[in-house]
Amino acid sequence: MPDQADFVVIANRLPLDVTVDDSGEITWERSPGGLVTAMAPVMQSRDGAWVGWSGTPDVDLTPFKADGMTLVPVTLSADEVSDYYEGFSNATLWPLYHDVIVAPEFHRQWWNAYDRVNRKFAEAAATVASEGATVWVHDYQLQLVPALLRKLRPDLTIGWFNHIPFPPVEIFSQLPWRERVLDGLLGADVLGFQRSWDSENFLRSVKRLTGATVRGRTITVGDKTKRVRRRLKVGVYPISIDAAAFAELAASDAVATRAQEIRTELGDPDVLLLGVDRLDYTKGIRHRLKIFGELLRDGLVAAPQVCLMQVASPSRERVEQYKTLRDEVEVTVGRINGDYSALGRVPVHYLHQTFPVEEMAAMYRAADVMLVTSLRDGMNLVAKEFVAAQVDLNGVLILSEFTGAADDLPQALVMNPHDIEGAKRTVLRALDMPREDRRRRMRSLRRRVMAHDVTAWADRFLSDLAEAATS
Ligand code: G6P
Repeated sequence: MPDQADFVVIANRLPLDVTVDDSGEITWERSPGGLVTAMAPVMQSRDGAWVGWSGTPDVDLTPFKADGMTLVPVTLSADEVSDYYEGFSNATLWPLYHDVIVAPEFHRQWWNAYDRVNRKFAEAAATVASEGATVWVHDYQLQLVPALLRKLRPDLTIGWFNHIPFPPVEIFSQLPWRERVLDGLLGADVLGFQRSWDSENFLRSVKRLTGATVRGRTITVGDKTKRVRRRLKVGVYPISIDAAAFAELAASDAVATRAQEIRTELGDPDVLLLGVDRLDYTKGIRHRLKIFGELLRDGLVAAPQVCLMQVASPSRERVEQYKTLRDEVEVTVGRINGDYSALGRVPVHYLHQTFPVEEMAAMYRAADVMLVTSLRDGMNLVAKEFVAAQVDLNGVLILSEFTGAADDLPQALVMNPHDIEGAKRTVLRALDMPREDRRRRMRSLRRRVMAHDVTAWADRFLSDLAEAATS
């Protein structure tokens, strides 16, 4: 049994992803996604335990220390990965919570696995948490954990934060197990969301679908006849990055040199546009390619003087909709490059790969314009990384209004990715923006990102949680 901890984080994934090769050798690398980007520095500064899955089925590991954290692996079988993770989490909840961009699938077998695996996580956390510990549960994969954990360990203070959007009640109501999910969440003391829209959507669902009382942002749950009543708080906590550390990395000589090299390797374009995403249908990668393709077609920009570097890191590759998306994106990239390449010079540099953070920082510095075209996105930390990396203040950020980041970064060029004509005009505006205007906007974006960093985010959530525990 691992040592017990006063501070426990539970997330579907550990911050490190394990791979086991045919000879049984284990290697670790950084897990994908915004949750880990944000939470790793928070955990490193607190002596806590992180309960999560290693990223590979049927791998049994004992708790261990890495990167200044205690990691407590939860083992998932191949069936659990398929039904709980790929199925219910990523083919039911993910599309349901992201504006049904693709149709969510509802299967009772997936729900049963979700319920079972949430119990597994709750049990692991109950073992590792010390008496009266603070437990912070993360994201849509673990919405039943707060209530399950409270039942096992009433002494704990429990918070939950949703990294992704929370849908309007009209959409949430499609979920056959909607009351069970809400009851699971209402086991927490504090429930956190990225944008106020998300918290309002959630509160409306609680009002409409449960017997709890909602007053402002306070929910009272319990059985009046048994006189057990409990209050919980709903709050808005826009997540961020370790901005100072990222800016310092971007300012290093090694990254500056690499940024120059990247431009040279791309054939010294006049303008470099950049997209960085997990290959996910919520990110609007097809819309971005359409916008760029039409600008080329209409002769409004010329290749190869203007080119797009698109990093699309592999994600959820066994889920059907992700396979389809990959095919569509790759066909579109092939068409654009077929139509507009010169020998040895392509307009779209497409990288279906994952890069170390140093290389990402160099790409951000090398780029002139960053395109974030998400159709729905809880926050979008890539936008904040790009801003932190603009140490010379030259880059322009184009940001979809359907990201949480659009609330935090209003000095970006905010646009609607569904409005292709409007989006094309926005790209042209970015290309024509006078230097002084660019610098003024970026200076103020950087001030915001530096002031509202991930430490401030975690401190605010955890201080509300501590207050909830004493009230
Ligand atoms: C988003 C989610 C995270 C998730 C990440 C990567 O950021 O909010 O919970 O971990 O995507 O997705 P994956 O399915 O690979 O964990």
